[in-house]
Amino acid sequence: MSMQRRTFTAALAAASVVGAVPAFAQKKIVLGFAQVGAESEWRTANTESIKSSAAEAGIDLKFSDAQQKQENQIKAIRSYIAQKVDVIAFSPVVETGWDTVLVEAKNAKIPVVLTDRSVKVKDDSLYVTFMGSDFTEEGRKAGRWLVEKMKGNAGPINIVELQGTVGSAPAIDRKKGFEEIIKADPKFKIIRSQTGDFTRAKGKEVMEAFLKAEGKKINVLYAHNDDMAIGAIQAIEEAGMKPAKDITIISIDAVKGAFEAMMAGKLNVSVECSPLLGPQLMSAVKDIKAGKPVPKRIITEEGIFPMEVAAAEFPKRKY
Ligand code: AHR
Repeated sequence: MSMQRRTFTAALAAASVVGAVPAFAQKKIVLGFAQVGAESEWRTANTESIKSSAAEAGIDLKFSDAQQKQENQIKAIRSYIAQKVDVIAFSPVVETGWDTVLVEAKNAKIPVVLTDRSVKVKDDSLYVTFMGSDFTEEGRKAGRWLVEKMKGNAGPINIVELQGTVGSAPAIDRKKGFEEIIKADPKFKIIRSQTGDFTRAKGKEVMEAFLKAEGKKINVLYAHNDDMAIGAIQAIEEAGMKPAKDITIISIDAVKGAFEAMMAGKLNVSVECSPLLGPQLMSAVKDIKAGKPVPKRIITEEGIFPMEVAAAEFPKRKY
């Protein structure tokens, strides 16, 4: 027997005497994570946070990218069930249509954690916890900032809205929260609203169409994420207008790209939505495996960054 093997056997024997399992002999927790896609700067930071936190926590991560398609995510979840992973986590592309696959996970006794986006299911016990932002509050923050900015302006204030992915929780809730605030004053009018699917390319394309249809009537752009706002900024410049001056621009996420746009004077404000969910997820996975209770809802704390503070805040940004 080799020296190394003898030491290992001796350690195991000693551990069985005291009833403990040495750290090196413990089986790694296996986590299956079904990601939405790679549609935005936010998502890239979120993926990086999950991968690096899993490595740090010593968790064996199985990762899949659904390319913004629900059927791909369902396939990935089914494959994690077949592989008998310890925990499944996912950030659902859309809110509905999850009941069947989540029942399958429950029947296989695999706990499910929702990160970033939530689901609408008949039975909330189909998932253990949901961690992520309050998207409705993000929409309210955007609305409150606009109301304050337009104080003293008699209106009408014509708003165009770039929505996120159709049926996704952030698109539904950010719209709801924003409308809840601006409806208090009839001078605010959403004159066009369409999805840009959370991507730069579609944000630009849809903004081009808005500009063609409404031109100089547009006073405000509300984009459900920074990437769409950045795409739209390009469209506004190509149309010969000045972003953040001729059209006030509000977006959500507060990624580095948004700070760069604010420092260049092209974006007025970004509401924060943190993608750094990896550490929280790994600690919840460990708690679940250890049989410890975890809260049903874990809300991320977030701020709002107008262009006036962008340069001072930029060096502190982590994503
Ligand atoms: O679910 C979070 C949203 O998804 C982010 O705001 C957006 O950028 C991403 O694609």
